[in-house]
Amino acid sequence: MYLCSYLWILASIWLCLAAAAPSRTITSTKRGTNSSFVSSSKDGFSVNGSSLRFVGTNLYWLPTLESNDDIWNLLQNISDTGIKVIRIWAFNDVDTIPESGTWFQLVQNGTTTINDGPNGLQKLDTVVQMAEQQGLYVIMSLTNNWNPVFNATTSTSPRNTLSNDYGGMDLYVRQFGLQNHDDFYTNDTILTAFQNYSKQIVSRYSNSPAVFSWELANDARCNSTMLTSPTCTTQTVTKWHAQMATFVASIDPNHMVSSGTSGFQCIDCPKLYPLTPAPSPVPSPAPGKKRRAAPLTKEQIIKESAESRRQNRAAARRAGTLKEDGVMIRGRWASTATREVSSSIGSTTDGSSGVDSQDILNIPNVDFGSFQVFPDQNSYGCNDPNLDPVQNKISSSLAWIQQSVQSAAAVGKPVVLNGFGLVTQANLNTYVPFNMTYAPYASNTCIAATVLDTTNTTTNFANNTQQQQGYSSFMEMGNSAGLAGIMQYQWGSTGITRSSSTIQLDTTNSSAPAATGDSPNDGYSIANTPAIQQILKQGAQALAEDS
Ligand SMILES: *[C@@H]1O[C@H](CO)[C@@H](O)[C@H](O)[C@H]1NC(C)=O
Ligand SMILES: *[C@@H]1O[C@H](CO)[C@@H](O)[C@H](O)[C@H]1NC(C)=O
Ligand SMILES: *[C@@H]1O[C@H](CO)[C@@H](O)[C@H](O)[C@H]1NC(C)=O
Ligand SMILES: *[C@@H]1O[C@H](CO)[C@@H](O)[C@H](O)[C@H]1NC(C)=O
Ligand SMILES: *[C@@H]1O[C@H](CO)[C@@H](O)[C@H](O)[C@H]1NC(C)=O
Ligand SMILES: *[C@@H]1O[C@H](CO)[C@@H](O)[C@H](O)[C@H]1NC(C)=O
Ligand SMILES: *[C@@H]1O[C@H](CO)[C@@H](O)[C@H](O)[C@H]1NC(C)=O
Ligand SMILES: *[C@@H]1O[C@H](CO)[C@@H](O)[C@H](O)[C@H]1NC(C)=O
Ligand SMILES: *[C@@H]1O[C@H](CO)[C@@H](O)[C@H](O)[C@H]1NC(C)=O
Ligand SMILES: *[C@@H]1O[C@H](CO)[C@@H](O)[C@H](O)[C@H]1NC(C)=O
Ligand SMILES: *[C@@H]1O[C@H](CO)[C@@H](O)[C@H](O)[C@H]1NC(C)=O
Ligand SMILES: *[C@@H]1O[C@H](CO)[C@@H](O)[C@H](O)[C@H]1NC(C)=O
Repeated sequence: MYLCSYLWILASIWLCLAAAAPSRTITSTKRGTNSSFVSSSKDGFSVNGSSLRFVGTNLYWLPTLESNDDIWNLLQNISDTGIKVIRIWAFNDVDTIPESGTWFQLVQNGTTTINDGPNGLQKLDTVVQMAEQQGLYVIMSLTNNWNPVFNATTSTSPRNTLSNDYGGMDLYVRQFGLQNHDDFYTNDTILTAFQNYSKQIVSRYSNSPAVFSWELANDARCNSTMLTSPTCTTQTVTKWHAQMATFVASIDPNHMVSSGTSGFQCIDCPKLYPLTPAPSPVPSPAPGKKRRAAPLTKEQIIKESAESRRQNRAAARRAGTLKEDGVMIRGRWASTATREVSSSIGSTTDGSSGVDSQDILNIPNVDFGSFQVFPDQNSYGCNDPNLDPVQNKISSSLAWIQQSVQSAAAVGKPVVLNGFGLVTQANLNTYVPFNMTYAPYASNTCIAATVLDTTNTTTNFANNTQQQQGYSSFMEMGNSAGLAGIMQYQWGSTGITRSSSTIQLDTTNSSAPAATGDSPNDGYSIANTPAIQQILKQGAQALAEDS
């Protein structure tokens, strides 16, 4: 109840400010005229003349499973919960041909070779075909920002397990003999190689109605685990998206293109694709009409953050649990809750990661926006001393959802939360941040404290109840704020076939029989958690009703 009352305050502020629910009329389609494919307009997605609002899930590892029966059963279970869209990796790059297991492309010493055999693109064919048969759409991501080398001596990494085990930008950079992560965005030789790969994938499925969109990259940023050159700016990353979006659209007139950024904004950065100014003054929208959203501003973020802190303070005072924060000025307590909290808006909106998602979304060939909610890895706001660490994660995530919706609405395109997750105390042993190769909280790791803040894993991470409350509130906020889709990260399953060593399943479950294993898990798996599946099911119903 404690948690709920605070979140309620935050949510009700939003509901007071919120625009009316998205309009039901689908006016125009962006992509071609064939309505068998999903298209987007300012009002959302449509297919076959009906609007589509969805709950989805992530399972990047799906094409690596040995058994097609497993793939089929997984998709069946997902479909049974009412989920409509899955998001997977449509890349699987290696720098040496592995003895076994799925791989799609060899990137080696400046050359590339596609594997279209049974353990190559034919696996992806199976996934796309089966998804179609199960009535699911697939967001196909073409590369990844993250690919840390596990063993610097041998330059080898485990494969097909963690989300960052599948190659991606840094593997190209290394194999093309370059040093900086951002060479991926700027080097023409690499761009040509990546376009070559993308072309083969995109053209292979350009007529498949199961493809939801081509996602250019997962979480593209200036920074990764490789070094970044000082010249990398938000414009570097925006320009790359523009080049790639044009390229993909030229090959495939049917499917939408999305960016796959984690949603970071740069409110004050110079734009390559400036917004056309909103008509002013903005008239009150007629009932049932969508209000034209103003762009997100620094002043607004600071003001809303201060207002939320003020509300939480008031609630804490009533509950007798008030914690002061602030500064003493000339002997008087000057609370930061009544003064402006800070003039800083935090790293998610100040461009420090080299991403300006609004500029990227305004690229003509980018059809919808995306963002992510991973409050264990990113800080979406300043800490509020009157909320405990988990409440802070959840409430800042809710504000982040609102900000992301507003930012996309100012561009006039739909936006999808393409991955959200809260790490639980029970999952800490398997939790691996996207930029790392080992689980920093596993009980036998002593590196943890120096890498991430582990001062108190009980208070700093959600318990199962808090995770469920968090997920419910993300779904409710996503629905009321007008998200076009909400995708949980990540699906999970036990009893996956492991007939030989051809797949590296999660091996942390020692009670799993040798012939089977749990699906790969980087700390967010919902295998064996019916409560979360129930939340997704309810969310799927709510979104379908409101679409
Ligand atoms: C769209 O309509 C076509 C033709 O009526 C049908 O074959 C197809 O299954 C429909 N697709 C969806 C997603 O409803
Ligand atoms: C599908 O769901 C059923 C019922 O929960 C479960 O027994 C089965 O293992 C699941 N299959 C897969 C492949 O996840
Ligand atoms: C990499 O390619 C270059 C020429 O492109 C060649 O000279 C070199 O021997 C190759 N290195 C390896 C390890 O194959
Ligand atoms: C493009 O991909 C094909 C198939 O993998 C490969 O044979 C060819 O060398 C690639 N070309 C370039 C320029 O990378
Ligand atoms: C890296 O590989 C080398 C050679 O196989 C091995 O000796 C070393 O232990 C490995 N390091 C790690 C961290 O696994
Ligand atoms: C791009 O990368 C290639 C190596 O693959 C290198 O030969 C070339 O000099 C690079 N171009 C620039 C402008 O750095
Ligand atoms: C639309 O796309 C579907 C699926 O690829 C195809 O079967 C159908 O013939 C296309 N319709 C038109 C009018 O091109
Ligand atoms: C990104 O990398 C640059 C250069 O390596 C570094 O100065 C900067 O702090 C990094 N930014 C983030 C958000 O990690
Ligand atoms: C990974 O990212 C976290 C923040 O999410 C940061 O604290 C940590 O230093 C990063 N680790 C590496 C190896 O880059
Ligand atoms: C973590 O915080 C909880 C609640 O304040 C407390 O009971 C527990 O002792 C703390 N654990 C550690 C290891 O400090
Ligand atoms: C989860 O944490 C909350 C907040 O600390 C606490 O009130 C609740 O009792 C905990 N639930 C369980 C099942 O541990
Ligand atoms: C471990 O595997 C067994 C057998 O597949 C399964 O019943 C059990 O739920 C799994 N445990 C966890 C924590 O996933």
